Amino acid sequence: MDSLDSEFTGATVAITGGAGAIGSNLVERLLTYDPEEVVILDDLSSGYRWLLPEDEQVTLIEGSVLDEEKLKRLFKHDPAYVFHLAAHFANKNSVDHPETDLLVNGQGTLKTLQYAHLTGVERFVYASSGCGIYGGDAEIPYEEDDFTIRHDTPYQVTKQLGEMYTYYFHQLYDLPIANARFFNSFGPGEVPGKYRNVIPNFFYWAKQGETLPITGDGTETRDWTYVGDIVDGLVRMAVVEEAVGEPFNLATGGDTQVIEMAEAISDRVETDAGVEYVGRRKWDNKARIVGSIEKSRRVLGYEPETGFEEGLDEVHDWFEDNWDRIRNCAEF
Ligand SMILES: NC(=O)c1ccc[n+]([C@@H]2O[C@H](COP(=O)([O-])OP(=O)(O)OC[C@H]3O[C@@H](n4cnc5c(N)ncnc54)[C@H](O)[C@@H]3O)[C@@H](O)[C@H]2O)c1
Repeated sequence: MDSLDSEFTGATVAITGGAGAIGSNLVERLLTYDPEEVVILDDLSSGYRWLLPEDEQVTLIEGSVLDEEKLKRLFKHDPAYVFHLAAHFANKNSVDHPETDLLVNGQGTLKTLQYAHLTGVERFVYASSGCGIYGGDAEIPYEEDDFTIRHDTPYQVTKQLGEMYTYYFHQLYDLPIANARFFNSFGPGEVPGKYRNVIPNFFYWAKQGETLPITGDGTETRDWTYVGDIVDGLVRMAVVEEAVGEPFNLATGGDTQVIEMAEAISDRVETDAGVEYVGRRKWDNKARIVGSIEKSRRVLGYEPETGFEEGLDEVHDWFEDNWDRIRNCAEF
């Protein structure tokens, strides 16, 4: 990042959803730049206070992006940069709770944009999602200009809706927005649970000697991207001038099969409980997901640095170090 780092030195940064898996890693990164303050608005519905560093530069406002009073408190800090990561997460959760999904991801994003516009922020970075933009029939690797409006889950609909709102604010009010399309983030900080991603859940089950349930035939692939690399992309999107008004894939450009991932986790945990095939979920239609990172490389200077195996080692270490807390928090 070199000279770009200094943009955050002495700056006030707001993060909605900052106590979550990606947000808490972003907080850690921002602190290395010595900001004036990192202010977080998070209702702790899927985030945890213990994920946040205890640091006088970090302020947590506990509350919802749907709550005007809490939003006023957040924007009273006059942030220069806003990372809007708060969301009702993710696909299965939205199938079970479609109205909450619309409220938080739709109205919550609209409200946060309104305050960012009223207070005049320097950059608004929105956490979009590759799965909410690209269709199963899109050419691999997915490029930013491709998209579908035929989605499989409410979450995909509302993550795209969030992007649409950001473009509207950019076009009508010149709000300097940038859209980060994440592809299957993984890394330390993601507590397993009923609605969480497969990697933390597989670690959780493997550590307890349980069989790993594969919802498909195991040959499906995903572009698992280490959270540290996603954070690096986010930070770049907040300061690179050419990022304004643009979407960027934060991915690796490669993919790994689900069965290979399950075996890699079993090896690390030293379990021989194996896998079981439990059938594909009706909404889970993408056999392969890979994001092109050409644009992110060219415009942002983004380059993922942590490989899949190395990233799994980091998750494994994090589970070992925090097992009691993780076990207490995980809900299925
Ligand atoms: N993890 C991924 O693989 C992935 C992929 C694509 C997009 N994303 C997006 O990235 C963002 C962060 O994802 P994550 O993996 O850290 O998920 P997460 O669930 O760990 O983080 C979301 C945070 O938002 C908070 N939150 C939820 N509802 C809220 C509300 N109404 N008001 C305030 N805070 C609220 C939660 O408590 C949590 O801390 C989300 O917007 C998600 O949609 C994540």
